[in-house]
Amino acid sequence: MTTSSSSATASTTADDALRRAAELAADWLERLPERPVGAAGDPAGLRGPLPERGENPVAVLDGLAAAAEPGLVASAGPRYFGFVTGGALPVAVAADWLTSAWDQNAGLHVMSPAAAAAEETVGAWAKELLGLPHGAAVGLVTGAQMASVTALAAARHAVLARADWDVEARGLIGAPALRLFASAESHATVFNALRLLGLGRDAAVLVAADEQGRMRAGALERALGESGSPAIVCAQAGNVNTGAFDPLENIVATCRAHGAWCHVDGAFGLWAAAAPDRAHLTAGAAGADSWAVDAHKWLNVPYESALAIVADPAALNGAMALTAAYLTTAGEHERNGADWAPEASRRARAFPLYAALRGLGRRGVAELVERDCALAARMAARLAAEPGVAILNDVVLNQVLVRFGDDDGATDEVIARVQADGTCWLGGTRWHGVAAMRISVSGWQTTEADADRSADAIAGAWRAVAAR
Ligand SMILES: Cc1ncc(COP(=O)(O)O)c(C=O)c1O
Repeated sequence: MTTSSSSATASTTADDALRRAAELAADWLERLPERPVGAAGDPAGLRGPLPERGENPVAVLDGLAAAAEPGLVASAGPRYFGFVTGGALPVAVAADWLTSAWDQNAGLHVMSPAAAAAEETVGAWAKELLGLPHGAAVGLVTGAQMASVTALAAARHAVLARADWDVEARGLIGAPALRLFASAESHATVFNALRLLGLGRDAAVLVAADEQGRMRAGALERALGESGSPAIVCAQAGNVNTGAFDPLENIVATCRAHGAWCHVDGAFGLWAAAAPDRAHLTAGAAGADSWAVDAHKWLNVPYESALAIVADPAALNGAMALTAAYLTTAGEHERNGADWAPEASRRARAFPLYAALRGLGRRGVAELVERDCALAARMAARLAAEPGVAILNDVVLNQVLVRFGDDDGATDEVIARVQADGTCWLGGTRWHGVAAMRISVSGWQTTEADADRSADAIAGAWRAVAAR
């Protein structure tokens, strides 16, 4: 009696908590498009002492939602253009909830055959969409930085193995010299990845980039020189400021000729391969050795979701495989997720990715990419029509750089005014030594009306600054 009534209470409470979470989430999502985009203030209610006694789950959720509210940013909404920020497709959010409710450990096949199968399927679907080799290995990780860490660990394994050095067993002390090359315009997280791997944040030779931020293939050729020592080259598909792509065909050919490993950071840009009208930008990418691509940016899967893809499965497995007597090794056709990514116990992050890809389909992914690119071009055109406004980049993808009055102070002030106004949100950068506003259109729900409304808010802020 006691047992059954206490389990009834427990299940009622779990049910109540999930229903309340659904109500609160629905309320948030309903208000998302029209709430001021930036944070309203300090979420002071989230601070405070640890309660002595546990509280009712519904009260906890209500308290959490109320306390978080002022500090929440509408970054998943239709007019958030900061950084490179995707929203969250409803089907992927819902699958994410299921992922939590199922609470599967995707580290070992025996702990969740379903998570293992979903990892295999999303890996295969992603490779197909991105035009990458069918036989490549895929690790599911938290973001593009970790995807680069994972892929570059495979690179480190492979190029040192060719020099008869087992880096997993022996480490880097006394290892053959490794030469690293990145672009002067590589993303900061590539250097973080090198740092985390013990290769050194500042150890890479920086290869010159052109005015759009594309690595110069000729400069790479010269930098690689005649030396045949182990080398890793970090190229890029989609510059975080301009959206420009390195000339991957030439870079891959140069790497092949020099026996260098070619890694491509395609955090958001690699998805261009899935859109017929943009796929040409990624030409040559398939010939690289490894790729990092986010799902939580342009694919609009909730955080944290990214893929590390490596052409040679043995290189990725050699760098990541997890072994211990009590851990089951996977059967020949079974996948242990922990053998392909850095974490052991891990969330089954393939489920939301599966839901996003299945919900969009091949056409939906292509349309999402095309639509956001078209909206970026639309905002650029509307802003370019304003006197005193300059677009600094070729808008080839979803990124736009805008400068106001050819003046750093004015540009910074326009950005600050737009952020305070709340119609939309975007940030700033420095491009070729001058201040610029960054617009990144990466969300699934941005419409032409959102783009126009945002461009008008930006133009209004500029007119106010120019009128002073
Ligand atoms: C080109 C590029 N690489 C890597 C990253 C880092 O991605 P994440 O924050 O998912 O680790 C970004 C983020 O904007 C990016 O634009």
